[in-house]
Amino acid sequence: MIILAIETSCDDTAIAIIEKKNKNIKTLGSVVSSQDKVHEKWGGVHPSEAKREHEKNLLPATEEATRKARILKKGKVETPKNIENISSPKNPFPKKLRIFFEKYKIEKVDAVAVTIGPGLEPCLWTGVNFAQTLALYLKAPIIPVNHIKAHILSFLFKEENPDFPAVALIASGGHTELVLIKSLSEFILLGETRDDAAGECFDKTARVLGLGYPGGPAIAKKAAKARHKNLFTINLPRPMKYTKNYDFSFSGLKTAVLYDFLSRDKKTQKDENYITQMAREIEEATTDVLLFKLEKAIKNYKAKTVILGGGVTANKVLRKKVKKLQINFFKNIKFFLPPISLCTDNAQMIGAAATIGEKIKDVKKIKANANLKIYDKI
Ligand code: KG4
Ligand code: ZN
Repeated sequence: MIILAIETSCDDTAIAIIEKKNKNIKTLGSVVSSQDKVHEKWGGVHPSEAKREHEKNLLPATEEATRKARILKKGKVETPKNIENISSPKNPFPKKLRIFFEKYKIEKVDAVAVTIGPGLEPCLWTGVNFAQTLALYLKAPIIPVNHIKAHILSFLFKEENPDFPAVALIASGGHTELVLIKSLSEFILLGETRDDAAGECFDKTARVLGLGYPGGPAIAKKAAKARHKNLFTINLPRPMKYTKNYDFSFSGLKTAVLYDFLSRDKKTQKDENYITQMAREIEEATTDVLLFKLEKAIKNYKAKTVILGGGVTANKVLRKKVKKLQINFFKNIKFFLPPISLCTDNAQMIGAAATIGEKIKDVKKIKANANLKIYDKI
């Protein structure tokens, strides 16, 4: 089975071609078109700019991914008769794809997978509209995918199977969730952020410190410098660390950074030693709370597998702490820590999740759902 997967839930336009043969899943072609430069001036993702970028990037990314997978051929595909059904002034893809399919054909695709939620509504709809139009041209069904489940299901690329129950920590720019997984079809939300996501905290504090977007990698780079010089004189709070539940809160951390920054004189605010120390403490505080609650969930639910995912789990300090946790306390538990390219948003994970998803033949039925939950059917 070959799946063409589409991801547009936030600010990355991603396309991947996934092949499932027997029980093995492999990537034949994958493209992630980042919009970081576009959103830098806002210090975060600007939804309508993101939508416009997706509209611009989806077809070029599809061309590149299908070419890499060697399924793009010169040719011509007739415009499907039912294309008007999904054609509206807001859907630019019938026109774009008509021009594309006058020159090309895409072979061997058995299904089109697309993220339907959670995420930014206008971005999700752009992906869904593209999937619907493409699916009609390819005469293929659509497999709708939950973005957070896809982060978790990235482990399907591994040869090793998870043992259940499993506990997953998904931390990204839009989400911070602890999930209990009893089987491949039973996901239970243990806790989530009550305000900002962990990645959002990195992004917003980086903006306070003038470090640019995305904040996570920028903070990590500065923090490494402070560690190198052994500088640590700043203390930030660990919000909700000791609460009995599995919820998180990161907006207080952001406010603490802002107040500390504003209390300093102009010279200190620009001082490299101050910025690097603050970056280090932001990284320590965030990863400390994430790890503490993850450890509690592993113990309380007697997890046999631990899964990490989302952009924040690309953080090297967090990854080191996770590995230490395993070596020190959970040697007999499986830990699935994806490679960096599978931590941040990508379409490979959407394709992998689709291998166990449901094919919908009537593609018009597919709808975006910005508030899709981990326990929803899809
Ligand atoms: O999963 P992702 O690519 O997109 C969302 O669904 O949000 O995650 C992006 C988030 C951003 O907030 C970014 O600052 C953060 O992940 N991030 C990191 C690192 N790399 C990306 N945070 C901390 N350390 C990193 N190395
Ligand atoms: Zn994500």
